[in-house]
Amino acid sequence: MRPDLPSATAAPAAITAPAVLAAHALAKSVPLANGQRRALFAGVDLVLTAGDVVAITGESGVGKSTLLNILAGLDAPDAGTVIINGQAIAGLDEAATTALRCRAIGFVFQAFHVLPHLDLARNIALPLVLAGSAQAPALDAARAMLDRVGLGGRGGDHPAVLSGGELQRVAIARALVHRPPLVLADEPTGNLDPETARRILDLLLASADAAGSAVLIVTHSEQVAAAARRTLRLSNDGLAAARPA
Ligand SMILES: Nc1ncnc2c1ncn2[C@@H]1O[C@H](COP(=O)(O)OP(=O)(O)OP(=O)(O)O)[C@@H](O)[C@H]1O
Ligand SMILES: [Mg+2]
Repeated sequence: MRPDLPSATAAPAAITAPAVLAAHALAKSVPLANGQRRALFAGVDLVLTAGDVVAITGESGVGKSTLLNILAGLDAPDAGTVIINGQAIAGLDEAATTALRCRAIGFVFQAFHVLPHLDLARNIALPLVLAGSAQAPALDAARAMLDRVGLGGRGGDHPAVLSGGELQRVAIARALVHRPPLVLADEPTGNLDPETARRILDLLLASADAAGSAVLIVTHSEQVAAAARRTLRLSNDGLAAARPA
């Protein structure tokens, strides 16, 4: 018998999907002006598998954006571990962390972080180009994503002429264009009218269904939380199942 295959008698738990993201016992504090530190959260455990869609809610300032940054290796926790696709972030140097982030993560930032000097198509094509794709197919894929977020034909525009909701959609297109295994989205529908929000939500759900991404969405929207398979609430004590509204 091949040793790498589960035997026919293996318990079902042994054949569950491998985790795309596994975070364990994460804790984070931030500095105060008086030199002391304020604890944001501790004991955060989270496991996401392919196709998972999880919403995280929580009061403003509790640390949701900070948590997403830690999960993406953009910020370091005070304690705990983050493993993405089997790789522990803490064990990687900066170049390897960046490479893992480019390859494995699509990040929709709360503040968009669209590059002002690039037109929209080039902004969205960036993850593909960074992953080694040639410019022409990357731009084709970017224009297709612009269509899907309702900005078809706007690829030559520059970010400065866009509304907040349009910038948000560009940020979402850029996060999904390379079909990453893990999508981290920080308030992705916060600036959108209900109809556009629904469309963006459908796009995020489709990236879980069609591309098999694990999708983690920080949101205050009940509509988004209701569409997720699980909704968790972040507090000082960690993540817990949210009470139904
Ligand atoms: N580098 C830092 N130095 C000091 N304080 C910080 C730092 N980063 C974050 N904070 C503080 O940590 C807290 C949590 O910030 P964070 O942006 O994670 O909250 P949030 O839950 O995403 O809030 P919101 O719902 O308003 O977006 C805030 O009070 C913020 O001021
Ligand atoms: Mg935030």
